[in-house]
Amino acid sequence: MKTILVTGGAGFIGSHTCLCLTEKNYQLIVVDSNINSTNKSLEKIKYMNPNSKIIFAKGDIRDLSFMRKVFNNARENKSPIEAVIHFAGLKSVGESIANPLMYWDSNVCGSINLLKIMCEFKCHTIIFSSSATIYGNTKTNPITENEPINPTNPYGFTKAAIETILKGIFGSSESSWRIANLRYFNPIGAHKSGLIGEDPLGEPNNIFPILCKVVQGKHKELRIFGNDWPTFDGTGVRDYIHVMDLAEAHISSLEFLIENKPQYLELNIGTGIGTSVLELVKTFESVNKCKIPYVFCNRRIGDVANAVADNKKIISLLNWVPKRNIKDMCKDGWKWQSLNPKGFN
Ligand code: NAD
Ligand code: UD1
Repeated sequence: MKTILVTGGAGFIGSHTCLCLTEKNYQLIVVDSNINSTNKSLEKIKYMNPNSKIIFAKGDIRDLSFMRKVFNNARENKSPIEAVIHFAGLKSVGESIANPLMYWDSNVCGSINLLKIMCEFKCHTIIFSSSATIYGNTKTNPITENEPINPTNPYGFTKAAIETILKGIFGSSESSWRIANLRYFNPIGAHKSGLIGEDPLGEPNNIFPILCKVVQGKHKELRIFGNDWPTFDGTGVRDYIHVMDLAEAHISSLEFLIENKPQYLELNIGTGIGTSVLELVKTFESVNKCKIPYVFCNRRIGDVANAVADNKKIISLLNWVPKRNIKDMCKDGWKWQSLNPKGFN
């Protein structure tokens, strides 16, 4: 049974990935500071899969001695950490503009720390949560992995910087690294049971949790940021991906890295299908039999018209295809929100 360290594993994408990993019989060590999560998500995973083996270590990846202890304990328990899936980080674009140093410290210093400890314990396999935000305003759509890296906000710069660090490590004298940068497009939805889902601690900025709040009556209406974009209906187009498809992409990437020679991968993770804000609203309404009041507002600073993944590379390389469509995302995401209006609490 292989042991995998999952940083940020109590969070939205991390918890869904942990569930998939336990179903594949991996033993997990989850490190999370709970700055944007609660470990109730991990308790739910144990309930959903009673055979799961998860050790939770509460702490910050920037704490070197804590991280050393985590690796050391695993080694002493004869289950050394084989690979790391690295979700831990801050992810709000607006907050990163307001407080860039906090983002450089948490995301970049945190990742450097983690990599130092991985070097110390000769653990050379890592999957990193990157983001489509690193492409910035692209000339082409769908976006391939060869698109220039051109972030437009501090959050995006931290993700691009971590990718650069990982590339440097791969090119260094230590030739045994296995690295995958997974560039997520727009993850939404939840596990179909409605037992785990997205539960951000602060005010959400992303459309899906906001849309759910409107349906719950917590917001009067959805503010649609612009109806004058150069898209077919004037609203922003995104590549929404079901969080379970994203979780499964981590399993496929992990298995691929472990089974193959050392390598460095950059992979887009999306469905390749664009959905406009209005289409998302209409699909949500028809699948969940509800009404979403909305108003058109000015464009949001930093937004782009269109961001859709070219996902040919991951599909041809890995044993993975996205299986769930936008209706599944709306149905499963709303099931979680409606069954748990207060999240995990
Ligand atoms: P999330 O906030 O739900 O999960 C991140 C987890 O990391 C949280 O549980 C948080 O408590 C933990 N964490 C943060 N800083 C930490 C630190 N210094 N030490 C230990 N734990 C720490 O976010 P998510 O949506 O699950 O995103 C996971 C990763 O994917 C993030 O790195 C994010 O930047 C990236 N990503 C997310 C999206 C998205 O839309 N959700 C898109 C692209 C990339
Ligand atoms: C945002 C971030 C991006 C990050 C991604 C995932 C910005 C500028 N970009 O991207 O860096 O990687 O989240 O965390 O913040 N929308 C509305 N009304 C709302 C909210 C959103 O109309 O209240 C629209 C947006 O204009 C966009 C679409 O919905 O067209 C999706 O927005 P969002 O969920 O925030 O994702 P991104 O803009 O892709």
